Amino acid sequence: MTCCAEEPILMSASTNDPTRAVQQTIANRHYAVGWLLLLIFLSLGAVLESLHGFKIGWYLDPAHQVRREMWRLAHAHGTLLALVQIAFAAGLPRFPWRSARRLYLASFFLLDAAVLLPLGFFLGGIGHAEGDPSYGILLVPLGAVLLFFAVGLILWETLRFGGVDRHSDNLPPSS
Ligand code: HEM
Repeated sequence: MTCCAEEPILMSASTNDPTRAVQQTIANRHYAVGWLLLLIFLSLGAVLESLHGFKIGWYLDPAHQVRREMWRLAHAHGTLLALVQIAFAAGLPRFPWRSARRLYLASFFLLDAAVLLPLGFFLGGIGHAEGDPSYGILLVPLGAVLLFFAVGLILWETLRFGGVDRHSDNLPPSS
C-alpha cells in the first residue's frame, strides 16, 4: 500500500526561493505599516479640520502661519507616504528581488522616510520662530534622502528584472 509512504512535497521554484519568503514578510510589514500610518495621518487631517472648525488662533492666526503650513505638509506627506507603503507591498510579490540585502535596505529606507518626513514637518511647526520652522524640520531632508535611495533601489531592481515575473508558473522561461 502506498497510502503512508513519505513523499517529497514538490514545490514550485518560487515557493522554495528564500528571497521570495523574505519578500512576502516585507510585503506584509509594509502593508500593515501603511494602513497604520494612513490611520494616523488621516486622523491628523481630522485634527486640522477641528482646529479650523473651532477657529483656533494658535493654528489659524497669521503669526502662526508657519505652524499651519508645517502641519498641513505633515498631514499631506504622511498620508501620501502611507499610500506608498501599501503600493510597495502590493507590487512586491510581482517583482522578485535578486538580492535580499538590497530588499531589506530599500524597505528600511522606505519605512524610515515615511516616519521622518512627516515627523520633521510636524516638529517644525512646534516652537517655531515668526517666519521659520523649528529645528525639527531638519528631519525632512534626512527623510527625503532616504526616500530617494529607497525609490532608486526599487527602480534598479525593477529594471534589472525587466518588469516581468519570470518565476511565475504561467510564463515561459527567459531565453
Ligand atoms: C488620502 C487622503 C488624503 C490626502 C491624500 C490628503 C492630502 C492633503 C493635501 C495634499 C493637503 C494640502 C492641500 C493644500 O495645501 O492646498 C491637505 C490639506 C488638508 N487636509 Fe487632507 N488629505 C487626505 C485626507 C484628509 C482627511 C480624511 C481629512 C479630515 C478628516 C483631511 C483634512 C485636511 C485639512 C483640514 C487640510 C487643510 C489644512 C490647513 O490648511 O490648515 N484630509 N490634505
